[in-house]
Amino acid sequence: MKEQLDQMLDQGRSALLAAATVAALQEVRVRFLGKKGELTALMKGMKDLSAEQRPVLGALANRVKEDLEALFDERLEQVREMELEQRLASERLDVTLPGRRLVAGTKHPVTLVIEELIEIFSALGFGVAEGPEVEKDFYNFEALNMPKDHPARDMQDTFYINDDVVLRTHTSPVQIRTMLKQAPPVRVIAPGTVYRRDSDLTHTPMFHQVEGFLVDKGITFGDLKGVLTAFLTQVFGKNVKVRFRPSFFPFTEPSAEVDIQCVMCRGGGCRVCKSSGWLEILGSGMIDPEVFKAVDYDSSIYSGFAFGMGIERIAMLKYGVNDLRLFFENDLRFLRQF
Ligand code: DAH
Repeated sequence: MKEQLDQMLDQGRSALLAAATVAALQEVRVRFLGKKGELTALMKGMKDLSAEQRPVLGALANRVKEDLEALFDERLEQVREMELEQRLASERLDVTLPGRRLVAGTKHPVTLVIEELIEIFSALGFGVAEGPEVEKDFYNFEALNMPKDHPARDMQDTFYINDDVVLRTHTSPVQIRTMLKQAPPVRVIAPGTVYRRDSDLTHTPMFHQVEGFLVDKGITFGDLKGVLTAFLTQVFGKNVKVRFRPSFFPFTEPSAEVDIQCVMCRGGGCRVCKSSGWLEILGSGMIDPEVFKAVDYDSSIYSGFAFGMGIERIAMLKYGVNDLRLFFENDLRFLRQF
């Protein structure tokens, strides 16, 4: 038995010295010193020894136990320290590395212009209305005084869903929808997406417009001029020159196109204004009695004006962007500038 104890001491020692992790150390301890461990088993056998041998071997067994326990404690300390050092080494952070910034998004210039127009017209008492982009022929054309065979339909290259349904070619149908829902007075702008079968340097099949109109008793062309001039000076600056030019739209009579003095050359003539010194900004006019008839407004009591403009065009002039396609390519280098 003495030999067994010596052997166990040797084995236990080398096992403790070989164990390189806390878990491995614990395993060795359980194997030798645990309740069902080898030394414990040996000690249980001592009751069969003679009365002289028992105390001698008992003392020896106790020493083996104490030795192993002491070595275990010592190794536990060492191994813990080793593990900590390994962890520190593997988890080391280089606090001098530059941080990675999260890039915040920006609003699209078209959105910025729409928001600005809403703000300006809100201050003038206008509310905001919306309508569907897939629109009935009735709202997009018919009720705006453009019956099926009307030549003005050719001006707007329409995407037809079927004979009766189109992708709206302008935001003017929101006028009709609003007036059918609401009795005068009305004062509304309607921003939104519109579609035309048109694609070249200055046209995209999808673009944005803001429509606006006002109906009340006694509204005159003077009101139209006043509101649109106030609006344009807020967008393009106090000193902008504005001009009203006779034009034609089926849904207004009389109609006017509104120009501002070229913001690039200040009227001197350049590529942007095609040497004319003026930039066409919006279409407008007094709402045609035919339109009032379609929405059951009494044109002997009420009158009103309407206007519509392309948002991309305003954004281009406002921000000095010279290529329409930039708005739709979503190149972050472009979008981050706004
Ligand atoms: N709807 C026209 C277009 O798409 C723009 C327009 C012109 C709207 C005159 C109006 C208006 O309300 O009175 O080109």
